[in-house]
Amino acid sequence: MTFNASSYVDPEFGSVDRRIFWSPEIYELELERIFARSWLFVAHESQLEKPGSFLTTYMGQDPVIVSRDAQGINVFLNSCPHRGNRVCFADSGESRQFTCNYHGWAFGLDGALKRMPKMGIYKATPGFRMEDWGLKRARVASYKGLVFANFDEAAPSLDEWLGDFRWYLDAVLDAEDGGTEFLPGGATRSVLNCNWKFPADNFVGDIYHALWTHLGGAEPTLGPHGGVKVENERSWHVSVNGHGWEFNDSFYGNAATMGDREVLRYMRSRQEAITKRLGEFRANMWGSVASSTIFPNFSFLPGYFTFRTFQPKGPTRTEIHAWTLVPRNMPDEIKDRFRRGSMRTFSPGGILEMDDGENWEHSTAVNAGWVTRHQRLCYAMNPQDEMAETGLAGNVRAGQLSDFNQREFYRQWMKMMDASSWQDIELAPVAGPAAEAVE
Ligand code: FES
Ligand SMILES: [Fe+2]
Repeated sequence: MTFNASSYVDPEFGSVDRRIFWSPEIYELELERIFARSWLFVAHESQLEKPGSFLTTYMGQDPVIVSRDAQGINVFLNSCPHRGNRVCFADSGESRQFTCNYHGWAFGLDGALKRMPKMGIYKATPGFRMEDWGLKRARVASYKGLVFANFDEAAPSLDEWLGDFRWYLDAVLDAEDGGTEFLPGGATRSVLNCNWKFPADNFVGDIYHALWTHLGGAEPTLGPHGGVKVENERSWHVSVNGHGWEFNDSFYGNAATMGDREVLRYMRSRQEAITKRLGEFRANMWGSVASSTIFPNFSFLPGYFTFRTFQPKGPTRTEIHAWTLVPRNMPDEIKDRFRRGSMRTFSPGGILEMDDGENWEHSTAVNAGWVTRHQRLCYAMNPQDEMAETGLAGNVRAGQLSDFNQREFYRQWMKMMDASSWQDIELAPVAGPAAEAVE
């Protein structure tokens, strides 16, 4: 396929060709050029505490096993090199090895082929070497508890990929001593008939929809405006390598919309300590009205502490895996309130998540119309000039009501779709720690 991504997206003036949301050819190229060479979130370290613990998930459409052995965390394809069968069918558990159902080939916790029935025949086969036929391994790296994997040997390191975005991630991952954990009782999986980019685009910068989409569900349960106040005063879009975070500095904003007074009381009790640790600006990001996507498909809502991946299952199908992440040293009672709060709001049956899914499904389906597909989509809202004077890390724009982060998301998409190798993909230089205050 001859493909020129820059004819499909225009990040400068803000327009996007609708075909990128359903074309099977474009989807195939995304699997190759986006998913097979990006750092993809696969697990939180707290899900794999003991050697022998494992879970299964996806990198793009490829099923993978994430397991811990005595050396650390391994990620490898969940597909037997013998005839291709899925090797592990469990979502998670503990094991000493993985044995394939079909002919009994057995693999270690690092994916290496260990033994098989009638092993002597293979041993006597000229040129056959056990070490050539393990489960294909990915590179693995973690950032403050979040484990990422990448199948491309030529990709830059995870630290380069995240770049200055790490400074913002710390507002959630490093707010308290002891780091964070995923709550075991706070995970869900669900499937939507939408393209994976609609939810990723929504989380990377679309607070605009919340004022309208969620009003019907939020007002009756959470009061006028659904408890959310969104202005372009003291609020920002920040983008680094396509990762984006849109937010204000309300501290209690998103947490308040869960409607739980005990949660707010607890947050107030931690405000001083968190401010000491992170500085005032990032402390205010902790529970603020905000949403974020790490390119391409790992998103979260700080404040609700809900984290999710949008796993591509075809051009018009997406599987959502979601967890609740909390500071490890938070009292159990408060952890439970966050778990229940995120289930009430952003689980498949939550009052806010259902609204989004319906819109993403219709956007995907309607964009395929023959006449419809020839009109581009509008991403033109509020184009501000770069705000270098903020002193904040990354590419920062004033105002939360903006399409800036979405345009930068599609810019990264365009760069990766047009590049045949990592040599042609440039990442943002890392500026290091940013200044404390925004004037
Ligand atoms: S397919 Fe796995 S052992 Fe044959
Ligand atoms: Fe939403």
